[in-house]
Amino acid sequence: MSHYVVTGGAGFIGSAIVRRLLQEGARRVVVVDNLLTGHEANLEEVRHAVDLQIADIRNYAEIAPLIRGAAVVFHEAAIPSVPRSIDDPVPSHEINIDGTFNVLRAAHEGKAGRVVYAASSSAYGDTLVLPKVESMNPQPKSPYALQKLVGEYYCNIFTGVYGLETVAIRYFNVYGPRQDPSSPYSGVLSLFLKAALEHTQPTIFGDGEQSRDFTYVEDVAELNLRAARAGNVAGKIYNGGNGGRITLNQAWATVQKLEGVDIPPLYGGPRAGDVRDSQADTTAAVRDLGHAPRYSFEEGMRLTLEWYRKQAAVAK
Ligand code: UD1
Repeated sequence: MSHYVVTGGAGFIGSAIVRRLLQEGARRVVVVDNLLTGHEANLEEVRHAVDLQIADIRNYAEIAPLIRGAAVVFHEAAIPSVPRSIDDPVPSHEINIDGTFNVLRAAHEGKAGRVVYAASSSAYGDTLVLPKVESMNPQPKSPYALQKLVGEYYCNIFTGVYGLETVAIRYFNVYGPRQDPSSPYSGVLSLFLKAALEHTQPTIFGDGEQSRDFTYVEDVAELNLRAARAGNVAGKIYNGGNGGRITLNQAWATVQKLEGVDIPPLYGGPRAGDVRDSQADTTAAVRDLGHAPRYSFEEGMRLTLEWYRKQAAVAK
């Protein structure tokens, strides 16, 4: 029986894809994760239904047998974070570039049906025009952005040269339940929600007027499944965003309103490698993949806050 593989399936986004696959009736889901940033707890209520393999994508021999014969490989394993890739570039280079190469090679040699690759909106860098459309020239500003772009190029080469079906989805600042807020490199919204719950001041780097197309994790998981099914998409890249744009100052205002707190943020210097504005043109994803994001920012944040509250209650 052919199976699904989710690399990074114990991570924040990967585990959401695992859940969606199981909801859709997938019989065999293999999670490939080294638990570096992922947690087994992210799979808690579906743990019995998945085959969790602790393996590292930097090690071809370890992952090749797991990927062999897969119907679809969702490649989510990565070391995220722009500042982390600047402070500590070697692990992110090895995992995001060499690891991606290993996954693609294993998929090709193991005759997998398709690879859906987690690409990043950071590939665009600062563009003169918003929203950002796939036909724009990439202008990566950080090691992370470049690494994710190299992965896209590799996907395209594996399609063109070896005939492996690949689809890349450029994620636009994904947020939601299970995003780990425990590191300074964590996604900004997870840090904002943690600060609101702990009644501490968040730090905003720069003036807070930079903007992001924050995208709820369930919408991204759904888009991945659509990309796995769509026809005539081999070798293509798509924006996986919501189509909107919210400044950090607006985001913090929303968090305060939802939690009923009034806490002025601390403002720090701007962060190296930061993109100023980010917003997805979703036309191609809607047209070719049937992308249909369902969660407004307020609704997604409400659900996320609810989840963080529950976690905090359990931890007490
Ligand atoms: C980037 C990518 C995103 C990718 C992510 C992976 C862009 C536009 N987006 O996200 O697609 O998934 O990397 O990590 O490049 N900030 C604060 N205070 C904090 C933390 C962050 O003000 O405590 C600011 C940052 O300076 C930045 C914004 O919040 O302006 C978002 O930062 P972050 O959540 O780290 O994501 P990006 O770097 O935008």
